[in-house]
Amino acid sequence: MSVLSGKKVLLAVTGGIAAYKTAGLVRLFIKSGAEVKVIMTPASKDFITPLTLSTLSKNPVHSTFYDEEENDLWNNHVELGLWADVMVIAPATANTLSKMTNGICNNLVLATYLSAKCPIYFAPAMDLDMYKHPSTKNSLDKLQSFGNIMIPATSGELASGLVGEGRMAEPEDIVTFIEKDIVSKLPLKGKKVLITAGPTYEAIDPVRFIGNHSSGKMGFELAKSAANLGAEVILISGPSSQKVKHSFINRVDVKSAEDMYQACHEHYENSDIAILSAAVADYRPKNVADKKIKKKDAALTIELEPTKDILKSLGEIKKNQLLVGFALETNNELENAKSKITRKNLDLIVLNSLRDKGAGFATDTNKITIIDKDLNPKRFDLKPKNEVANDIINEIILKLHA
Ligand code: CTP
Repeated sequence: MSVLSGKKVLLAVTGGIAAYKTAGLVRLFIKSGAEVKVIMTPASKDFITPLTLSTLSKNPVHSTFYDEEENDLWNNHVELGLWADVMVIAPATANTLSKMTNGICNNLVLATYLSAKCPIYFAPAMDLDMYKHPSTKNSLDKLQSFGNIMIPATSGELASGLVGEGRMAEPEDIVTFIEKDIVSKLPLKGKKVLITAGPTYEAIDPVRFIGNHSSGKMGFELAKSAANLGAEVILISGPSSQKVKHSFINRVDVKSAEDMYQACHEHYENSDIAILSAAVADYRPKNVADKKIKKKDAALTIELEPTKDILKSLGEIKKNQLLVGFALETNNELENAKSKITRKNLDLIVLNSLRDKGAGFATDTNKITIIDKDLNPKRFDLKPKNEVANDIINEIILKLHA
């Protein structure tokens, strides 16, 4: 999945021959899962039609501050600038670059550029001598010093017939450049995160087991949230119908508490962060029957023995890892959770109280309190589990930088 998936991309097209390539660029952004809006300078419409770009982007394309045809509708540059997660100026002509450098805003593209709060990428495109000119060089340097990100022009045959630098980067390369740049700046880039999810099944005989109602949703949402912020995730999941498809998530399926223990210990040493959200069985049958237990009239007693406490075992061998546990409590919530932090050598604990409506492991929502090592509690509202996951990951990022 592309990091651009779900992102709002505002493409600004200016008046150079390379504008014809923006049809392909819009298609690639759409293919990556981004939502695309296009704005144009009036001059760029000589090179590609707004109809082409609006058809491909599935959104109206604007090039003026108001549309006469649409009853003088005001095209709000501030709103467009705030809408965008990413603004891409491609092709960026010498004229537009120079105006951007000096804060001139005599068209919709320039006014939107000045209003935008998001990262701004620009892909210069012009003839060889224009590209080499000191004033262009000055614009490129200044624009980058303002924090804009340049997608360098490449060398090749130019529309004039001259051969040299000044060709706009190819659409595929523009998209790859932006994706790589976004990933390199994500807060969990380079971090390895181990997450446990779901229930565990403890076999009684070949067909029966002791399990619980955990869906695994919380752990899977945590995995997605961490991966979307650049982490490499090892998701160790007990039996769960949850699905995940993300190039940064490596799913390891396990069944029993013992399997989960082994898998966690295999990956823990290389992890920077471990989040144990699984609802691990605390007991398992002491003896597993090798044949299906036959029904009898008398009552059946199954002797149980404790499983290994995975979280505690990771706390005991902790080096630099940030270790996060979960606590599901019904009474004395804060006190119990605080004592777990100390007993299991945790950095954070996420507390669910079953007394809170909508919290717990069999719902789509959760209401949590996060407690840190200094035993400071931070309470969150009842939210869908994907938002809860984002809150937990954000707290972890804050702790990493504390
Ligand atoms: N956990 C674990 N291994 C186990 C049991 C639990 O790693 N065998 C982890 C869970 O993933 C969770 C945390 O421990 O992160 C808390 O589990 P919980 O059952 O609430 O805590 P316990 O220590 O078992 O305490 P108690 O049952 O007394 O509340």
